[in-house]
Amino acid sequence: MDEINLLQSAVPPLLGWYSAFKRALPWRETADPYRVWISEIMLQQTRVEAVKRYYVRFLERFPTAQSLASAEIGEVLKYWEGLGYYSRARNLHKAAQTIAEQGFPQTFEGVRALAGVGDYTAGAICSIAYDLPCPAVDGNVLRVLTRLLADASNIDDAGTKARFAAMLKEVYPPQAGDFCQALMELGALVCVPNGAPLCEQCPWVELCRAHLEGREEAFPVRAEKRARRVEEVNVFVLSCGGAFALQKREERGLLAGLWQFPVFGADASPEAFGKTVAVKRAKHIFTHIEWNMTGYLIETEEKSGGFLWLSPQEIREKYALPSAFKAFLPWLSHKKL
Ligand code: ADE
Repeated sequence: MDEINLLQSAVPPLLGWYSAFKRALPWRETADPYRVWISEIMLQQTRVEAVKRYYVRFLERFPTAQSLASAEIGEVLKYWEGLGYYSRARNLHKAAQTIAEQGFPQTFEGVRALAGVGDYTAGAICSIAYDLPCPAVDGNVLRVLTRLLADASNIDDAGTKARFAAMLKEVYPPQAGDFCQALMELGALVCVPNGAPLCEQCPWVELCRAHLEGREEAFPVRAEKRARRVEEVNVFVLSCGGAFALQKREERGLLAGLWQFPVFGADASPEAFGKTVAVKRAKHIFTHIEWNMTGYLIETEEKSGGFLWLSPQEIREKYALPSAFKAFLPWLSHKKL
């Protein structure tokens, strides 16, 4: 059987399995493109379980593109606080201006042109909201498909994704949204990445070439991963008379434009600011960088310039501190201060 025929015959059992076993997720209750878009942006690089409550809360506050477009970016970031990858929230806010003026785009090209939307997300939105045959291929979908076809292509090669997207396009059923989400769901619940996949529960147990050969875990094939760069940083939590210092990050690069406790290189000296009353080590892993942080809680004599000095309540309620700094938030209510 050639690959397209195998893929074609895999569609009906997958749709049957999905309708029986899919998880009830809040964004699956709607095909409203605005809501589908918000969910897909939140689901970029973030687990389903983590997204659920953010999605519900965000849509309670911003139920339409108009309400999102007219909000202050600071408030949008506040509703995003803890989800990470904050450029997503900035792009969302930017794209909402376009949508509020022109309506939600109805073609793949139109959706793809929105800020923060790449091929995968545009494919998912168009499949789910409009039942268009637009494949959404990410690492999970590649795992499922390379196992089904026992395909040993390197999934990190640029061409591999495009080839699988082209194959999927040929077999897309009219229920495009269900098909798209069924592939994701199979990857999340059955054809899992770490540990043994749950092949006995799989709708493809009799079709999957990798399973028939007993080689499920040989797929997907990928190139060696590049190591993350490790950076040693000092985080100075400066306190003066009940106020704490925040610093704004540069508008480009990691955590662009966000507020943070002042961050310095590992050789910066806490004595230059005042008296250290607590020290704590913490680690945070970003996509390409890992921070080994040493946090110092420092009492300073004066509110030195260049920082914004705020009460703990203002910091907690109005400033979306990135989750990298979570380990140091308890210091805002430190008893010795
Ligand atoms: N990951 C990305 N999009 C998703 C969706 N719509 N449902 C579940 N997981 C997803």
